[in-house]
Order: sequence, then structure tokens, then C-alpha cells
Amino acid sequence: MMTTTKWLLVASALAALPALPACGGGSDTNNPTADANTGDGGPVDEWDQRLGERQYDYHAALRIASLRLQGELPNMTDIATITAAADVAGQKAAYETLVQKYMTGPKFTTQMLSYWRDTFKIGGTPAFDTAPAFAAQLTVENRSYLELLTASTGNCPTVDMATGNFTPADCASGAPANVGVLTNPSIMQSFNSNFAFRRVKWLQEAFVCTKFPAETAAPVDVGNPTNLYASPWAFTSISGLETGRIDFRDVSAIVCANCHSSMNHIAPLFANFDDRGMYQPQIAVKTPVEGGATAKITDYYPAGETPAWRFGKPTADLTALGAAMAADPDVTDCAVARTWNWALGKTDIVDTLQVVPKATIATQVNQFSANGHKLKDLIFAVFTSDDFTKF
Ligand code: HEC
Repeated sequence: MMTTTKWLLVASALAALPALPACGGGSDTNNPTADANTGDGGPVDEWDQRLGERQYDYHAALRIASLRLQGELPNMTDIATITAAADVAGQKAAYETLVQKYMTGPKFTTQMLSYWRDTFKIGGTPAFDTAPAFAAQLTVENRSYLELLTASTGNCPTVDMATGNFTPADCASGAPANVGVLTNPSIMQSFNSNFAFRRVKWLQEAFVCTKFPAETAAPVDVGNPTNLYASPWAFTSISGLETGRIDFRDVSAIVCANCHSSMNHIAPLFANFDDRGMYQPQIAVKTPVEGGATAKITDYYPAGETPAWRFGKPTADLTALGAAMAADPDVTDCAVARTWNWALGKTDIVDTLQVVPKATIATQVNQFSANGHKLKDLIFAVFTSDDFTKF
């Protein structure tokens, strides 16, 4: 199964080589010898050879960089600075100067706003643009990605598209404290649903780049030998019908708890936002029971349980949740993988499972972490990497 998948990936990557910058050059993840191919010849050698043959092409890279960062093709003057360079080193220097230039001004702001609208799946009106605008501001100003999860002020700015400038403002959901986009009222409104589960799904997909289940453990039989439970949480850490009104411990058809053990510990933190995204003093989200009754904490989990980002990472409130997420390496990986996919023209990382091998982005992940999670520096690192500039 695994082998087949990898072979298919390699085959399609090879087919795409002439048109697109290849990613994952030589990483073990893309190397099928690890699984099956022990003989000489065959796709693995061709793959390595083709990657090895790639040459720097700063004209081609500039074309893509300009489209992504400015939304238009490079002008003749910019192209000429690369053509005029005496050698590859000169071309590289000229290209890098242009990438820096393309990451300034209103066109870059516009591109970043649409990137973050796509990422957050929201936007278009000033109210619904506050989360993408905040992320765009962090990018344009080369601030930390982690502010999306930790900022206690300035998390709902407005943007002037003509100048590309931002005006800071605090989100006004009424939450006890502001926490980046986690207390953005438009996000809360847009992803409102029963039990606040859609807000949790949004959080997982936007910041971890994967769907639920989010946590796994060795599978165990919890009452149905054909449907095993595979989460680190105690099976009884979420409610069944003994303590709540929904049987999250059902194992008859699927094991709800494989997803809901994580989800039911996160969702209560978002449950006080009502259907307009306004924070209420008590739980405001509905349930599918009794024709739409309001959720109770005991529907999520039994007495004694508390909210948590992950098993072993309790988070009493949204500020703690944001801090736990900011410290989670999966969140950092996701930010880099998304930037990578966007640069290389891939489709949405969650919806189409365009997963980037960890080894491919390891250099960028390490730099990003060591360098304060600065967004503009990340974009520069990706757009000037060998995988972007070699064809
Ligand atoms: C693969 C992960 C997964 C499994 C397994 C799973 N759920 Fe969910 N569940 C979700 C997600 C994600 C949502 C939010 C979906 C959305 O609103 O877009 C959700 C939403 C719900 C909701 C709210 C739906 C509504 O009325 O809007 C209920 C209730 C629920 N799940 C109960 C269950 C039960 C009971 C089971 C087992 C029979 C189960 N889930 C299995 C992931 C899962």
C-alpha cells in the first residue's frame, strides 16, 4: 500500500519536472529504494539524475516570484537586471534584490491578503477581512507568525488597499482577553456550528494543515474488536450517554472518540461565542438534541475533565490555547509547508492532501523557528531556495 503510493508520487513528480520546480530533491521520503527498488536502474536513478541535472534559471524563477508576490509578470527593467549579470552569482544577487523589492508596496499587500483569505477560508468584506488583514500585516511587517495565536492587541486591523497600509484595531468580540485570530468575531461567526466543532475543525486545518483525527496512539479494543480506539486520551475522558446527551463513546459503526477525544477538549474554549461571533458569559452554541438545545459542558466531557489543546497539554482558556499552539512544532511545520505549496503552485494542503515531505522543508522550518517565526523572511527563504530557483 505504502509502496504503491510512493511510486505514484514519484511518477507524477517526474512527469511534472519539466514544467515546475521540483521539490523534495533527494530526500528519503521521495526515495522509493527504501521500500522496494533494490536493483540497478529504474525510476529512482532517473529521479536522482533528473534532480541533479536541474540548473539555476533566475529568469524563470523571477517570473513565478513576481506573479506570486506582485500579482503580475516582471517588467522589462527587472528582467534586464538579471540578463545583464555577468555570471550565475550575479544573477542570484540581482534576483534576490528583486524578490526583496516585490515584498513591498500595495501589490504585495494585496497578494498577501488574498493568500490569507485562501488560508483562512474567509474574507471579502471589511468585517470578514480582519483575520486575513492581521495575517497580511504580520507578513508585510515581517512579524512573527505566532502573533496569530498570541496577540493580545491589534488583532483586527483594517487595510487600505490603495496604500497597502494597515490601521491597527483590537477585535471586539467581548472575549475576556484578545488572543490573535482565536477571538476574531468574524471567524467565530463564519465557522459557527453545533458544539463549536466547526471552529475547532477550522483551527486544526488552518494551523496544523490536517483533518481530524489529530492525535493517535496504539489501537485498543474498547468494546468492538473491529473498530479500535487509537487516541492517547482515556476513552472515558469524553461523554457518552451516561454523562451527556450525545454518545461520543459510540463504537458501533465508527469510533467517534478517535476524533472527538481531541475535539471535545478544545471546543468548550470556543463555546461561549454566539452565532454572531460575540462572546457570552455562558455557553452559547447549540446541539442537534431536542431540536437545538444549548450545549452543556457535560455533553463534551464528564466532571473533572478540563479543556486541552492536546493530551497532556491542558489549556484553561484561549490565551493558554494560543500559547500551547504556538509551542507546537506541528503548527510551525504547517506554516512552512503552506508557504512552500503556495510558492511552488500546489493546491490547498488540507483539501487535496498536497503534503510536503518534512525533509524537503527542514531547512526552512529550522530557520523559521530559530529566527522568531518571521513571515517575510520565510517567504524570502522559500523563494530563494534551490527548489524554487532550479529547473
Ligand atoms: C473523523 C473524525 C470524526 C469522527 C470519527 C466523528 N466526528 Fe463528529 N465531527 C467531526 C468534525 C470535524 C465535526 C465538525 C464538522 C463541521 O461542522 O464541519 C463533527 C461534528 C459533530 C457533531 C455536530 C454536528 C452538527 O450537528 O453540526 C456531532 C453531534 C458529532 N460530530 C458527533 C459525532 C458522533 C456521535 C460520532 C460517532 C458516531 C462522530 N461525531 C464521529 C469529526 C468526527
